[in-house]
Amino acid sequence: SEPLKIAIAGLGTVGTGTVKLIQDNLNVLAQRTGREISIVAVSARSRKNRDFDMSSMTYYDDAVDMAENCDADVVMELIGGSEGIAKEVVEVSIAKGRHVITANKALLAHHGTELAKLAEEAGVALAYEAAVAGGIPVIKGLREGLAANSFDLVYGILNGTCNFILTNMRETGRDFDEVLTEAQELGYAEADPSFDVDGVDAAHKLSLLSSVSFGTEVDFDAVYIEGIRNISALDIVNAEELGYRIKLLGIARKTEHGIDQRVHPCMVAKDQPIASVEGVLNAVVCNGNHVGTTMFEGAGAGGGPTASAVVADLVDIARGTILPTFGVPANALAKPIAQPVEKR
Ligand code: NDP
Ligand code: HSE
Repeated sequence: SEPLKIAIAGLGTVGTGTVKLIQDNLNVLAQRTGREISIVAVSARSRKNRDFDMSSMTYYDDAVDMAENCDADVVMELIGGSEGIAKEVVEVSIAKGRHVITANKALLAHHGTELAKLAEEAGVALAYEAAVAGGIPVIKGLREGLAANSFDLVYGILNGTCNFILTNMRETGRDFDEVLTEAQELGYAEADPSFDVDGVDAAHKLSLLSSVSFGTEVDFDAVYIEGIRNISALDIVNAEELGYRIKLLGIARKTEHGIDQRVHPCMVAKDQPIASVEGVLNAVVCNGNHVGTTMFEGAGAGGGPTASAVVADLVDIARGTILPTFGVPANALAKPIAQPVEKR
């Protein structure tokens, strides 16, 4: 069959990791999908050396121009940001009938329901495994593997940067700023790291997990958010002495008053499995009404793990598997009936 042609917008940690994974695993991907995968176009802000051979790809200075005019079946949006260029790339790609893969949880937290409707009307995929918990296949886990279950609780460690900071502060006694700088150097942090440390990134991801778990529209505005800026080394030592670890958790629960979504630091008893999820690892726990409690754990950020999730979505598309973005058709998502944040 015809090769599957890819265009990639954004060649930073995730974009470069994705090119490298595809080049490295070309044969295995071709064997698994029955199709050759070919990167035909790329775009980034600057034309610097990217540490991979671009000679067979068309370079576009403008990512929207690429989305509009390239010869690709699939556009990967790996730029970031909830508005502006990333949103335009996704909208134009869908309008042109191209499948979209994105790692951009900020975009989907703000516009996920409307973009999912556009994609479904156009008959293309809007896939985002990489947007939640990096390399852990948690969207596929909830939407496909556990699709037979009803859920009333999903929670987890959803930000690798914060977990890396809390773990390092506890293990090494280093201060917050120093560990944050290391997380940035390792490519874990967002372009604006306050999104990580203030809990906003975890909240973006939680709003997507809620939608997939409960079949509701994405409702980021209803998430109560508190980050880790005020956690001191002394808090961590005191918690440890009492038998607890401090973790930034995102928790979404179905209640009689609607969906309750919250992100804040929690004291977790050391004998709980999630307490041992350390460093850049993330974990997601859900309670399916027939499967019981299920925990997913793995690398929550970084080029290789995130590329693994991006390319898993590509494999679905190459196989012809186009799934509803949030597990049910976007027009059939329920209103979440959230509790107003200020009343909690
Ligand atoms: P980076 O900052 O490393 O890369 C962003 C890329 O976008 C850069 O190549 C940049 O170009 C390019 N870019 C910026 N503006 C434009 C523009 N106007 N037109 C075209 N390209 C542009 O970010 P990440 O790779 O870390 O993150 C990308 C996305 O993936 C974000 O949505 C992020 O939230 C998400 N994500 C990141 C993870 C991680 O571990 N890093 C994990 C999961 C999701 P240039 O290189 O020239 O500056
Ligand atoms: N900045 C994010 C994190 C990247 O640290 O978890 C993965 O989404």
